[in-house]
Amino acid sequence: MQGVNFRESWATRMGFILAASGSAVGLGNIWRFPYMTGEHGGAAFLVIYLVAIILIGYPVMINEIIVGRKTNRNPVGAFKALAPNSPWWLVGALGVFTGFVILSYYSVVAGWSLAYIYKVVLSTTAAEIDHADVFIGHITSVWEPIIWQAIFMILTISIIAAGVVRGIQRWVTILMPALLVLLVILIIRAVTLPGAGEGLTYYLQPNFGDVGPRTFLGAISQAFFTLSLGMGAIITYGSYLRQKDEIPGNAASVVGLDTGIAIMAGLAIFPAVFALGFAPDGGPGLVFITLPAVFAEMPMGVLFGLLFFILLSIAALTSAISLLEVVTAWLIDEKGWSRGSAAVVMGIIIFVVGLPTTLGYSVLSDVTFPGLGMDLLDTYDWFANSIFLPLGGLLTAIFVGYIWGARNAVEECNRTSGFICLGNWWIILIRYVVPVLILTIMIMGIYDTFFGD
Ligand code: TRP
Repeated sequence: MQGVNFRESWATRMGFILAASGSAVGLGNIWRFPYMTGEHGGAAFLVIYLVAIILIGYPVMINEIIVGRKTNRNPVGAFKALAPNSPWWLVGALGVFTGFVILSYYSVVAGWSLAYIYKVVLSTTAAEIDHADVFIGHITSVWEPIIWQAIFMILTISIIAAGVVRGIQRWVTILMPALLVLLVILIIRAVTLPGAGEGLTYYLQPNFGDVGPRTFLGAISQAFFTLSLGMGAIITYGSYLRQKDEIPGNAASVVGLDTGIAIMAGLAIFPAVFALGFAPDGGPGLVFITLPAVFAEMPMGVLFGLLFFILLSIAALTSAISLLEVVTAWLIDEKGWSRGSAAVVMGIIIFVVGLPTTLGYSVLSDVTFPGLGMDLLDTYDWFANSIFLPLGGLLTAIFVGYIWGARNAVEECNRTSGFICLGNWWIILIRYVVPVLILTIMIMGIYDTFFGD
């Protein structure tokens, strides 16, 4: 199982779709997407985000899967295989590093979700309770969130140590359908609350008046984050594809499912935000404050609340394992480590790197990055998702488009055919549209973040 030369593959065609959707669907859809939408003005953000998914997310996802299936390697090894003796492997290394950073704070938020499995019970059964106080009380206490973060990391490490098929594939098969059903129930409750209409308008009726460079940067950061792109996670999962598996159709399923779940999360949250009198720009606390308030308004709310946070935690877990898998695959393939030690050692280091983000709400609450004015968790999130992921996606697109060659990529992809075939449309996207859009949005958005008003 752990020999250096033996690499697993997904057991079935569905294996990749399930695992890649398991990676894609996570806190990004249910926690990050709603609060990003709320912070950036609602429907206009939704529209820009959807355009980013189609013009950037989908072609970049195909790009990463091709590189993975072609090389059968982790991100660093993949670049080395396609461009030997060149510095391009550094793009893979940037990805491994980014995975590190993302997982370090991702496990903190996932820890909040774990804690809410019982907190939601307490807060939905108490008569008069301020749901914002419950959340703030939790994140500003020192030890409790750290303990949940640790528990979440232990779960992640155990699954990765168990291996690709037995560990990853088994989990995601059960989760997705359950999550979908629960979201539908939540949407029905939210849109039937008195006063829900205002939330629907906010979420679905765009007003482009306030759109600025930061809106675009927020939208591409969300597109990369939610689809797990830009750091080699999809290269790694693509590397476990069997050589006979097709790519564009698989990518479309993953993108479609992920986007659908994000839109549904918004439908569950915004009507409730307005109906229950919360502010849509509440930031990272949004779902943790709003949804428990919705559960409190529901018959059997305790049960639904419990189920929801269990599912959210599992969704977070199937995403976290893809982050740890990249780092682990790199150590196994490139450094000859055993799967077990790679997962454990890296998992512990990542846990430690994440500690400042949770302490940023308590003992380190005065620490901010100059010019950003965010707490530490948002700061990690901003650098990882507004800089490192788009940069990784940009460089990978340039690499495939110009160095390895877009024609080679198309040929490799079309070796297996499904219902979508790659052609000039994809070459144009990957060589011109993707790089130009990412570069423009990054430059303008970063400038505006630091120097705009
Ligand atoms: N996409 C996941 C989510 O939405 C998070 C995630 C998993 C991720 N793997 C990734 C983000 C790789 C960026 C890169 O929750």
